[in-house]
Amino acid sequence: MSTVPVIAIDGPSGSGKGTVSRRVAEALGYHLLDSGALYRLVALAGEEAGLDPDDRDGHAALARSLAAVFTFDEQGNERILLEGNDVTGPVRSERAGAAASRVAAWPSVRQALLERQRAYRRLPGLVADGRDMGSVVFTDAELKVFLTASSEERAHRRHKQLKEKGLSVNLAALSAEIDERDRRDASREVAPLVACEDAVTIDTTSLQVDSVVKKVLALARARIPAPRAEED
Ligand code: DC
Repeated sequence: MSTVPVIAIDGPSGSGKGTVSRRVAEALGYHLLDSGALYRLVALAGEEAGLDPDDRDGHAALARSLAAVFTFDEQGNERILLEGNDVTGPVRSERAGAAASRVAAWPSVRQALLERQRAYRRLPGLVADGRDMGSVVFTDAELKVFLTASSEERAHRRHKQLKEKGLSVNLAALSAEIDERDRRDASREVAPLVACEDAVTIDTTSLQVDSVVKKVLALARARIPAPRAEED
């Protein structure tokens, strides 16, 4: 058993995982693992290397040697580098999300990323955001949270995010894409998206981010001895 506490936050796309995980990590002074970004990077690296989209071994090899850096610019915006190149925009695109969901269904790719993800477990603690954080990667996590929201609400949230980025996307098409991605993530044979028996499920459909963050922090305080920071 590791002595480094982990809070696993799993759920489908648009459930609020990313924002909630970041805010919880900030409040506790914990490290953050955005595991979805790793799958997105593998898909992107495959495209850049000109791999056949169905080349499982090629993608697994890339996953093992992925030269990825997660950092922030001077304005505090997230920056993701692949082989030293800024790929933040492409990584966060809907296209990369869909491609990530495809490569993430392959056991060899998941296996290749396993140790890399576990290496994020460092003091004072880790918030791990993904689909299988509680069920596979950190089965002994002190706290497992499963966030859900209705599929309409998730499509609306994603639509709003993209509009804020200046991208115009058709809501119906986006909704269909999200449903397709969920279906693939939940039905794959290895590490499908499921709520573990020992996870606390929070339906965020009609909740503001603040109140979800507060709920998770309250759970964390109850489960993890002496969390380092207090929320204001
Ligand atoms: O959370 P996200 O949208 O960035 O994830 C992109 C895809 O990666 C998602 O559709 C499924 C896959 N994924 C996964 O299989 N396991 C994880 N722990 C995280 C993401």
